Amino acid sequence: MNLDNAGAARRLMARLDEFAQFTDEPGRLTRLYLSPSYRRACERLAEWMLAIGLEPEIDPAGNVHARYEGRKPGAPALMVGSHIDTVRDAGRYDGNLGALAALAVVEQLAESGERLDHAIDVVAFGDEEGVRFPTTMTGSRALAGLVPADALGKRDADGITLREALTKFGGDPERLFALRARGIAAFVELHIEQGPVLEAEGLALGTVAAINGATRLAATVQGLAGHAGAVPMALRQDALAAASEMILAIEARARKESDLVATVGRIDAEPGAINVIPGLVRFSIDIRAPRDEWRRRAVSDIATALQAIADRRKIDLVLAPTHEAKAYVCDPRIVAGFDAALVAVGQKPFHLPSGAGHDTMVMGQICPAGMLFVRCKGGISHNPAESITSEDCALALAALTRFVRDFRV
Ligand code: HGY
Ligand code: MN
Ligand code: MN
Repeated sequence: MNLDNAGAARRLMARLDEFAQFTDEPGRLTRLYLSPSYRRACERLAEWMLAIGLEPEIDPAGNVHARYEGRKPGAPALMVGSHIDTVRDAGRYDGNLGALAALAVVEQLAESGERLDHAIDVVAFGDEEGVRFPTTMTGSRALAGLVPADALGKRDADGITLREALTKFGGDPERLFALRARGIAAFVELHIEQGPVLEAEGLALGTVAAINGATRLAATVQGLAGHAGAVPMALRQDALAAASEMILAIEARARKESDLVATVGRIDAEPGAINVIPGLVRFSIDIRAPRDEWRRRAVSDIATALQAIADRRKIDLVLAPTHEAKAYVCDPRIVAGFDAALVAVGQKPFHLPSGAGHDTMVMGQICPAGMLFVRCKGGISHNPAESITSEDCALALAALTRFVRDFRV
């Protein structure tokens, strides 16, 4: 059925609602990489692709691909997409919007039989969020040849390795390191902003100028479990009290620089009994900045501060890096292309940084890459209250379509 942009946007919003039902946790959206709900989402996406004559493929890393050929078969492709794994208790637009919008662009071309000079590769990545395994962006890293050598041995909370999960899913762990994106001229991604800037500016859309670099660390704080009633305060090696002081030190360091952010998103204390002094605490640390040298300086300062707290409290501390992504400056030609598309759809060109990480920063290691942001209500994301308006969705789809049409290899 040949829809105009408004109709295609309505269909896109309806599909995002349908997609949100593919969850591992009834009552909230949690779709972890290679999980049963991830599999159902891949299959539903493949059905939509088949319905317009594409030949969907799930690659060894569990990404879903489909190519819409150009006028001449084998022409270089513009790759368009985003991720379809989510965080826990997620919103329905983070990642999923960009993956399904990429399909919607091709759908409009396929339904009118129109071909462009370049091909279009629609891609839905897995593991952008890095929630299930201590890895992240595995899907795009596989296409870029950037999967860390030790990735397959990483275990999820149930002790399942990435290798086992990929094999069970039907992927191919042995080809994870050999996979490469072929014949890709550029990569672009539509994504919700996940922050408040566009809304504050009264803009629906914005062009991403750069993506913050990120460092993730796993902190292990080893104290001494003991009787909550019998051990005097001065003689304790309380791992949770130490971790609490560390977490406030992390926050204090991040507050010193306006563009620096640091987050402790997860903490586990053992043994977790009301009358036992916690002996062991594990917590996550996520540090981001627009400039790599600012981030690395903050990581070093935080490590020094945490070690000083551990020493004073006679506690053992281990800080293990689990992820590092360099800041990425979006390709100027892609940025200009999105600016022109914004003008073409009646929007003011506006540039903004991305505090969140995206597959674009990985794909940008192998080809020109860039992003288009659409505002989300209150800048809320990684939260079921995440939302966009159907009007903004239509504008975003129109701008993405215009970019794809006007793109030249
Ligand atoms: O953590 C991030 O920046 C992204 O949502 N994965
Ligand atoms: Mn995302
Ligand atoms: Mn996210």
